[in-house]
Amino acid sequence: MAIYLDNAATTALDKESKDYLIEIYNEYYANPSALHKMGLDAEKIYKKSILKACNLIKAKSHNFIITSGGTEGNNTGIWQIKKLKGNKKKILTSKLEHPSVLNYCNFLKDKEKIYIEYYGTNDDGSIDLEDLLSKIDKYTGLVTIPYVNSEIGFVQDIRKISESIKRLNDSILIHVDGVQGFGKLNIDVNELDIDTMSFSSHKIHGPKGLGGLYIKEPGKFLPLIYGGGQQNNLRSGTEDVPSIASFGKTCELAQRDMEKNYLRTKKINKRYRDLLKENIHDIIFNGNERNTSPYIINLSIKDIKSEVLIHFLEMDHIYVSSGSACSSNYKGISTTYDTLKISNDYVEGTIRISFGRYSKEEDAEFVVEKISKYVKEIRKMIRS
Ligand SMILES: Cc1ncc(COP(=O)(O)O)c(C=O)c1O
Repeated sequence: MAIYLDNAATTALDKESKDYLIEIYNEYYANPSALHKMGLDAEKIYKKSILKACNLIKAKSHNFIITSGGTEGNNTGIWQIKKLKGNKKKILTSKLEHPSVLNYCNFLKDKEKIYIEYYGTNDDGSIDLEDLLSKIDKYTGLVTIPYVNSEIGFVQDIRKISESIKRLNDSILIHVDGVQGFGKLNIDVNELDIDTMSFSSHKIHGPKGLGGLYIKEPGKFLPLIYGGGQQNNLRSGTEDVPSIASFGKTCELAQRDMEKNYLRTKKINKRYRDLLKENIHDIIFNGNERNTSPYIINLSIKDIKSEVLIHFLEMDHIYVSSGSACSSNYKGISTTYDTLKISNDYVEGTIRISFGRYSKEEDAEFVVEKISKYVKEIRKMIRS
């Protein structure tokens, strides 16, 4: 059996969600826009499932669209800058963002004459709010904020940040990447002064290729995708009712078990940290434990190469990652690690251990024993 510790990259589909997916595929495959009974039945399932996803973030269904995942959600949220009039052509973002934010900003800079400016971040992965506020000027149209960073798991105080921005200028749009917090931490979009927030299904044991976007003001929304007018004209394309139903089921389970999963994961996280500290010398934990999601541990081990460690561990069916899998297409050090200023002798030995609902505390001893064994071997190889 694999010990899968790469749940921030993606997760196994929940068994109940899988069974439900197949059931809906078999029985409710009609197009929910169709006027016949089969279409209406599919539409009922679709609407019920959207409500379950909305409940998880306390949103109304008219403020929520289904997307193909976090990437589309981030692109679409940031795209909203194009609806602003006049000279509002500047996006404020940070190096803590996922490539689906940063590369979309780069695209807008190259193709849409949008100006991108980066606000500062602190060594622990938090946003430098003072610097962010100081960079707001008459050109600022949109600010992006990462709720939970995918590599180190730092949880930003969205409410404090958004209130401070809106206090300076309440016409500035705020887009939040909510992917790594969705279904794991309590989110109430009504308490956050934000305009859009993206979510993904496959990070919480739901089907892949699916997610959502919260939209505060759907009446002013600028779609990214046009077509048959589905989803109130906000995001066209025939709805994938079976996957959406499965996603809805996943959201229902996530909501039901959120607190239990959080506390269980916190315990697992602590066990891993304690064992790692006890068994490996010259190890640092990146981020700031107090403000970090228990679902992610990011650490750097001196004088090893994480890629080698990962391949050693896979021989024992242990799977961790050397950073965000979604960004491993980029060679070199991720922009998040740039902001953390990890020293050179540690940075190449950076790994991420991330937990999901199937992670077990009992595995910690075996995993750390293997990491410790391979670290010694790699150091011997590198130092000889
Ligand atoms: C923080 C964050 N944002 C966005 C994404 C992209 O989400 P998706 O894979 O659903 O497109 C990811 C995926 O790793 C992520 O971790």
